[in-house]
Amino acid sequence: MMEASPRSSHSAKQFVQRCIHESCGSEFGIAERIYLCKKCGGPLEIETPLPSASEASELKTRWRERVGSLDPRDRSGVWRFRELLPFDDAASVITLGEGSTPLYDAPRCAQYSGLNALSLKHQGCNPTGSFKDTGMTTCVTQALYLGARTVVCASTGNTAASLGAYAARAGLQCAILLPRGQITASKLAQSMDYGSMVCEIDGDFDDCMRLIQEITDDQTIYLANSINPFRIEGQKTVAYELMDQCGWQPPDHVVVPGGNMGNSSALGKGFEELHQMGLLRRLPKLSVVQAEGSAPLARLFAELKLESGSEGSAIPEELVPVKSPQTFATAIKIGSPVSWKKALRSVIRSRGQIISVSEQEIADAKAMIGRDGIGCEPASATTVAGIRKLVAAGVIAPTESVVAVLTGHLLKDPDYTSQYHRGTLALGGRPGTANEASHPIRGSFANAPVQVAAATKAILSVLDRSKRKER
Ligand code: F0G
Repeated sequence: MMEASPRSSHSAKQFVQRCIHESCGSEFGIAERIYLCKKCGGPLEIETPLPSASEASELKTRWRERVGSLDPRDRSGVWRFRELLPFDDAASVITLGEGSTPLYDAPRCAQYSGLNALSLKHQGCNPTGSFKDTGMTTCVTQALYLGARTVVCASTGNTAASLGAYAARAGLQCAILLPRGQITASKLAQSMDYGSMVCEIDGDFDDCMRLIQEITDDQTIYLANSINPFRIEGQKTVAYELMDQCGWQPPDHVVVPGGNMGNSSALGKGFEELHQMGLLRRLPKLSVVQAEGSAPLARLFAELKLESGSEGSAIPEELVPVKSPQTFATAIKIGSPVSWKKALRSVIRSRGQIISVSEQEIADAKAMIGRDGIGCEPASATTVAGIRKLVAAGVIAPTESVVAVLTGHLLKDPDYTSQYHRGTLALGGRPGTANEASHPIRGSFANAPVQVAAATKAILSVLDRSKRKER
């Protein structure tokens, strides 16, 4: 825990929570413990007082200088950008050294997608192995500031793992609601290890999300799902960090997976802020990729029939949820995403796309990300699968610059990976999914272990055979 630094001069203006509904736009103080607009029930976002262009340019230099500092706040890829975060001097910062994740060049994925080049921003390299940590550091810091005693969330696994870790650091009680039998063993193990109270619910993620919102009427309990705008504030810094890594030259496209839609909302907010501050000359097109069996927003987006490049479309009032969503990518097995309106708004403003990809496409793209020596969990691979589809459709040109955001580490779901490479993905241990036995996944790039006798000659002969196969 450490004291946050005083705000710089530009932030004499106030950060506020504002309802995103244009017809309402109500404003609330940042010390109010609310998750939705008190007037109309709409989603809230933090309105950031932005510096002038000259102050922004100074900030850019300051943020860079902090990379070499030994101050734990400067070493955090989130708090390094604290001038644009809604915290004052009284806040005690809870950090695990999140952010500062690598941006990799991925030549095999580029070729697979039909691009000249492709970069992968690996958010799975965060302390608990997923992008959630960048939002949890700000959310748990706010929970402490508000005097909460318990933090809670509904989760498909990663949010829970991340919240558990940050709550443990802050000395807060943590309770998590998970859909029973639908969380990977690695994620569940993390939550148990961090000391969270794990409540396994007989239902799916959307049931957990509904229930958790009901219990947070109690003032001592703080909700840490991405409906909470303080989560989004931390996650938006990924856009800042990425642009710093790109030398402030915006890529043509940034592509992210879509589940509950917090990540896409946060990146959209981050890019828009930089654009408004004059640090980006244009917005990257932000595209979101969902898994085919859990794709309510991709369906709505297709129905909107936007003219290519149109940014003027009104946001619809309702999203039709997908009942009993299905996908092997359990992280994004979500039928009723809470932040869909914010995400849709960002995608439309940036002239991006929302599409879906099949289980086979996700599995093959994931194997390809592995072949670049990087790896990720299944949900993250929707990005490369989606990019391949968008290139094939002519939406992304082969020469354009593209960044895919990988959201979770390879070791978050080792069973999936192992089953893919052994050719047993649909037949083995994935109960409860509709396409379980009926649509087995082909191991197009399978790499199963070989059984070799315990003898030098046998091992050398296997190596030789594999070399010949590669040629
Ligand atoms: N990728 C991974 C690895 C995730 O864990 C999630 C969401 C997403 C993508 C989608 O991000 O929800 O912001 O659109 N996981 C949540 C959880 C739902 O509970 O861990 P989103």
